[in-house]
Amino acid sequence: MESKDLRESFIRFFEERGHVRQPSSPLVSDDPTVLLTTAGMQQFIPYFTGDRDAPHKRYTSAQKCFRTVDVEEVGDTSHLTFFEMLGNFSIGDYFKAEAIKWAWEYLTNVLKLPADKLWVTYFEGEPKRGVDPDKEAHDLWKSIGLPADHIRGFGSDTNFWGPPGESGPCGPSSEIHIDLGVERSSKPHDHECGPNCDCGRFLELWNLVFMQYFCAEDGSLSALPSKNIDTGAGFERLLMVVQGKNTIFETDLFVPIIKKVEQLSNKEYKENEKSFRIIADHVRGAVFLIADGVRPGKSGREYILRRVIRRAVNYEHQLGIRTHRLEDLAEVVVNLYESAYPELRSQLGLIKDVLIDEEQRFRKTIERGLKHFENISAGGDVISGADIFYIYETFGFPIELSREIAREKGTTIDERGLEQALKEHQELSRVGAMEKFKRKGGGQGDEVKKAHTATHLLHQALRDVLGGHVTQAGSRLFDDELSFDFTHPTKMTDEQKQKVEEIVNQKIKLDLPMLTEIVTPDEAKAKGAIGLFEKKYGDRVQICSVMEGDQAYSREFCGGPHVHNTAEIQQFKIIKEKSSSAGIRRIKAVVGRKAAQ
Ligand code: SER
Repeated sequence: MESKDLRESFIRFFEERGHVRQPSSPLVSDDPTVLLTTAGMQQFIPYFTGDRDAPHKRYTSAQKCFRTVDVEEVGDTSHLTFFEMLGNFSIGDYFKAEAIKWAWEYLTNVLKLPADKLWVTYFEGEPKRGVDPDKEAHDLWKSIGLPADHIRGFGSDTNFWGPPGESGPCGPSSEIHIDLGVERSSKPHDHECGPNCDCGRFLELWNLVFMQYFCAEDGSLSALPSKNIDTGAGFERLLMVVQGKNTIFETDLFVPIIKKVEQLSNKEYKENEKSFRIIADHVRGAVFLIADGVRPGKSGREYILRRVIRRAVNYEHQLGIRTHRLEDLAEVVVNLYESAYPELRSQLGLIKDVLIDEEQRFRKTIERGLKHFENISAGGDVISGADIFYIYETFGFPIELSREIAREKGTTIDERGLEQALKEHQELSRVGAMEKFKRKGGGQGDEVKKAHTATHLLHQALRDVLGGHVTQAGSRLFDDELSFDFTHPTKMTDEQKQKVEEIVNQKIKLDLPMLTEIVTPDEAKAKGAIGLFEKKYGDRVQICSVMEGDQAYSREFCGGPHVHNTAEIQQFKIIKEKSSSAGIRRIKAVVGRKAAQ
């Protein structure tokens, strides 16, 4: 089955069941709470909330979506920035029984996917927010005949969907995953595996959301005027499974783009999979963003477009493509999509102009950076990290490109020095956030204090769980959110993440006091303080310690500010753990009320 047939078959299936075919809305959405359209349900939000009367009760669509959260993950077998989402929607009409029945029927009867390879999840409840376990969904799946061990309960991380922005409709969800086979797993074959395991064996195909709550900005839930259905199936993933391919890049939506990159670069996909995939994904995204009116720029969605174009050029360069070529790839994209999105063809000229202009600008940046690269690399075999950082910071010359050229030339980059320079830069941002906090005073700043103290607890908990090699490689605070980079060679396991979260929450519960002292650097070292501020503070340094009795649980060089007692943090929750750069992991976490949700 080809991509256009799959898209049509989905829409037809739901049309036959009384749904109205709704065209995709643009990527630039009317919804002020999001920058870009990230889900098929967005255009139906006013119907779900009751702000507008819905002309029909059932809709079906193939929606253009763009998600930036996954941009660093593009290059693996299934992540994309731009993708299409197939969906069926009920506005106060049918509910769980039909949504589940039809999803199952479509996958197993129409697409003929093997039923014994499909697993499902349901929401296991969240008493704190007053949401019970979704026994109904569980029982509906059981009545369809799924074996008990293919029906798994999960918490709100994966099975409570939305809202897409700060506030809006949301609800418990039930997802359908496919078992791609144990040989797809990157972990030992006997590990504990199932839906939501990230080893590569299971792939989420379809998310059924039982949209029945409105989530306010403070996280509180209230009932929507009606019980609704919002489902979203990843089109490219479904296509990959239907076409029996190992990755989405081998489907008919990608092969022509990949072939074109092979032709332009004279290199083989098989030997350069990551670069090819990133170029293919980003050029698709750029084409659709431009067609929907976005232009490259410095902030918001303009910056998103600039970023994907520049990343694509960066990888083109690495493949040896030395002049602007994105417009040729854009043409392939338009050929692939014009039957489903006829507006692309008439805009092709404009799309090419925008791409050529941005690619040329960025290639100039690369050229300038290259000249400086020659200067900084003239001195010897090792290029200092500070120099690499300098051309990155001053000319926007990508660090990846520096690494690539250094490799080609057989020179080495002082990665430690680079790491240090990046760290210092991030510390400055962190100090900047603190300064902002101090100027603002109180209010929102209390959240920053919570996040800051939680960062110290996290740092120590990571050392407890993973080992003393863990050192901070950067940290940022955004009110009640924090992002912490640290040195560690491998992905953390679920158990490790859970353990770290437990330790931090345990220290919060213990209501430990925070002690701030000004000491000499030697005293600080003798007391075992860790952290990054050694050099900058001269002969007196400040150290902040979380005290457990007369022992410090955590002690760091730090300028503050912090909470007085850890209980003020209330709660700590890890949202994501992922790679930041080679040998550096990043944890994103939330504190306070947000973590309690
Ligand atoms: N809104 C849900 C999602 O984006 C289902 O469509 O996954």
